[in-house]
Amino acid sequence: MAWQENAPRLGVVGATGVVGETFLNLIEERDYHFSELRLFASDASKGLKKKCADREWEVQTLGAGCFEGLDIVFFSSGDDISAEWAPQAVKAGAFAIDNSAAFRMDPHTDLIVPEVNGDLLPKLKRGERPGSAARIIANPNCSTIQLVVALKPLQDKFGLASVRVSSYQSVSGAGRNGIEELIEQTKVALEGEQPEKGPTFAKPIAFDCVPQIGSFSKEPEMLGFTSEEVKVMRETRKIMRLPNLYVSAFTIRVPTLNSHAETVWVELKKPGVSLAEVEGALRAGAGVELFPRDSGDYPTQAFASGQDPVYVGRVHKDPNDQTTWLMWVVSDNLRKGAALNGIQIAETIFASR
Ligand SMILES: NC(=O)c1ccc[n+]([C@@H]2O[C@H](COP(=O)([O-])OP(=O)(O)OC[C@H]3O[C@@H](n4cnc5c(N)ncnc54)[C@H](OP(=O)(O)O)[C@@H]3O)[C@@H](O)[C@H]2O)c1
Repeated sequence: MAWQENAPRLGVVGATGVVGETFLNLIEERDYHFSELRLFASDASKGLKKKCADREWEVQTLGAGCFEGLDIVFFSSGDDISAEWAPQAVKAGAFAIDNSAAFRMDPHTDLIVPEVNGDLLPKLKRGERPGSAARIIANPNCSTIQLVVALKPLQDKFGLASVRVSSYQSVSGAGRNGIEELIEQTKVALEGEQPEKGPTFAKPIAFDCVPQIGSFSKEPEMLGFTSEEVKVMRETRKIMRLPNLYVSAFTIRVPTLNSHAETVWVELKKPGVSLAEVEGALRAGAGVELFPRDSGDYPTQAFASGQDPVYVGRVHKDPNDQTTWLMWVVSDNLRKGAALNGIQIAETIFASR
């Protein structure tokens, strides 16, 4: 039972979405203690009841004073809602843990993956980073999170010279509408009809891959890249505190329901590193679970769904470039890519209170 007197008072904005629901599941699973839980969603969900920790909680809408008395508010309702309401949560005295992209690249906002740069959190907790923005903590993009968790042990042991990544991202990354669009279009395709483009993806997604996630960049130096690719590149540099790291990303939406996969080419600074050393570093990496090459096995997106780790497999050296290693990185985008990362941040902030 997660309810406990004097435990943090929580709010979840976007509680009816796929990330919000994952938050509620994780609160139960991890027995995360709270003394109050306030759920928020759009007008359409007002009055709906959601179960968490053996109780039903009524969904409310956002309004003046709605965060009063809360300690932490998780935001998972999109950029515009976070931009408007996360500062309101901070004004009300809460920490805002934000899944949207609204504050990620703001220089005054920390972008946190606990396994990588969680050392920044104690400063926030002790109030050593004054200012309202310091109480908004940004959760990175789902593809970025699993990438940096896998890169961190390699950076610590061998240094990173460059990173190239291509992603295979499930439809749940686009929220509940993305899941429904794939299912509906698949039914149409199985009837022998050509599905029409829906509102969520740039092209029909049933039985096809779409090499566009987000919109195309209008920045002169980023022409040809999508917004998702720009996020992965910039957020990786910020989280890893490597502002000059060469990172190049190509992101693809694939017709899988959940979890994202990535093929990653990592160029290490240290020459002459063996497979045993690379796998040893990954095996010891926080949040990483390794499928060693000699197992002959590797993770898949269906395997990773509903699981917490960032799985790494298919580790091998590029024969054309002795410092470049290839690996396959898979993780549940709703868990480590969103809700789990947020809960881990909350657990760190309130651990020693
Ligand atoms: N899906 C992922 O893998 C993932 C990963 C990382 C980050 N994120 C980010 O997390 C956020 C939520 O994503 P999602 O995938 O969970 O989307 P989703 O399934 O579409 O859920 C969206 C949520 O926002 C709520 N909402 C919409 N309008 C609102 C309003 N005016 N006021 C309050 N709540 C409102 C919806 O409520 P109703 O049900 O009432 O419409 C719903 O609860 C987005 O910012 C997304 O970029 C998602």
